[in-house]
Amino acid sequence: TILILDFGSQYSHLITRRIREAGIYCELLPCTQKIEELDFKPKGVILSGSPYSNTDEGAPHVDSKVFDLGVPVLGICYGLQEISRIKGGDSTGLSRKSEYGFANLEIVHSTHSHANLLLEGLQNPTQVWMSHGDHIDNLPTGFEIIGKTDTSSFAAIAHNKDLIYGIQFHPEVTHSIEGKKVLSNFAKNICGCSSNWTMDSFVDKEIERIRKVVGENGSVVGAVSGGVDSTVAAVLMKRAIGDRFHAVLVDNGVMRMNECEQVKESLGSQLGINLRVVDAADLFLDRLATVTDPEKKRKIIGNTFIEVFEKEAHLIDEECQHKGVGKISFLLQGTLYPDVIESISFKGPSATIKSHHNVGGLLADMRLELVEPLRELFKDEVRALGTILGVPEDLVWRHPFPGPGIAIRVLGEVTREQVKIARHADYIYIEEIKKANLYRSISQAYAALLPVRSVGVMGDQRTYDQVIALRAVETTDFMTADWFAIPTPVLKRISNRILNEVEGVNRIVYDISSKPPATIEWE
Ligand code: XMP
Repeated sequence: TILILDFGSQYSHLITRRIREAGIYCELLPCTQKIEELDFKPKGVILSGSPYSNTDEGAPHVDSKVFDLGVPVLGICYGLQEISRIKGGDSTGLSRKSEYGFANLEIVHSTHSHANLLLEGLQNPTQVWMSHGDHIDNLPTGFEIIGKTDTSSFAAIAHNKDLIYGIQFHPEVTHSIEGKKVLSNFAKNICGCSSNWTMDSFVDKEIERIRKVVGENGSVVGAVSGGVDSTVAAVLMKRAIGDRFHAVLVDNGVMRMNECEQVKESLGSQLGINLRVVDAADLFLDRLATVTDPEKKRKIIGNTFIEVFEKEAHLIDEECQHKGVGKISFLLQGTLYPDVIESISFKGPSATIKSHHNVGGLLADMRLELVEPLRELFKDEVRALGTILGVPEDLVWRHPFPGPGIAIRVLGEVTREQVKIARHADYIYIEEIKKANLYRSISQAYAALLPVRSVGVMGDQRTYDQVIALRAVETTDFMTADWFAIPTPVLKRISNRILNEVEGVNRIVYDISSKPPATIEWE
């Protein structure tokens, strides 16, 4: 394992990605982690970049015991400055001169063979990406230069005895063309890690871990939604403990067209998961009646979901006890690594723009422990895992769908009629996107029903009907997004079909707003 200590750089999680891509397991922990309290022994440590200036009051600092672990250390940008602050004695200082963009790194050969290991096998010069506010303006005592650029004499340094390295550039971003090689040189050639972190090995390891955690008798309950995360988590549970995993699908009345049937078919019939579907559509829709405020809609749906799910979990628990099989003692959650990173950040979770409905506090009275089999994975790794586990392709590549579903895509009041219109339009939209082979290029697409009426004409009749807005975005992290330009002929087909097939709609508009300042959902 490589330990990455995070000083809050926007690129920290990318370091994790690159190391994983090299097939090496790594963990990202906040920079405030006490080295004595680590529950594993890393083979090497990477110190990330940071938005702070090293000399600022309140700037985060690494536990200097990291150098007593006796393992190689690599500092990136701010991490380099931390190394120089701790190891460099009085010789070092910082200069504030920010640099942002491409640079050519000239590799300087050392007479110490260990010092050359980091940049071994790279082109000389090699293109790197700089993004920093400060740089060190003296070589720390005991270090030597192993790389420089036009503007930075200390772009890469190495200790002349110990396996300690610092680089000013960011190897984790793809603009550093051979950055991945730098990180894999560090992990493999310097720390001695081997590439054994593959998805297959993950499956075996995780199934074993689940079995151990849950024990011989424990049963697990988990909500599934038809989305890729909960599906993959459920399949993994099924593989690990068979029918002692109980999946629950709550039909909240605001799911997509045919979604319940599809989940029943794929998870229940095809994948053989022990699945129950609770039809609570009326309960949700009754509670949503006359509510227009998006946050209120989210709260109602979130709370009602917990209530329904809780009731079902109790029923399952009673049945298990009645049959003499293990009682429910665990709750499955499809938490992904980005959520874990967010929650362990030393800066605390970022500001809430929309209160995403999550299952925190769920089933408090049952005192269930959590099982989170995906907590080490990024979204694309979950997809790869799903593929290995035989999850149908259309499910693996499904666009994300918000917990409050169509309720936040029907702007204004959520009536059964409005849900029907939005659902039908959305179905046609997605079907045409798939036919045009665009579904995989778009990160998320949906149709929203706007709370306005406009005048139209049909035959000789004046109409006064509703407006559908088509949304399609491209994004990697859903924090920012660009609107996606669907080709005009496809838009024409979509528009024609919705106008012809969906009663009550006489106008279609295309949303050309990026996030920010818009968000992906309209509510
Ligand atoms: P926004 O609209 O915030 O959406 O740009 C970003 C991503 O989050 C999804 N989203 C939600 N997911 N509950 C969820 O489970 C919610 O309340 C919710 N609101 C937005 C949205 O679909 C997009 O993928």
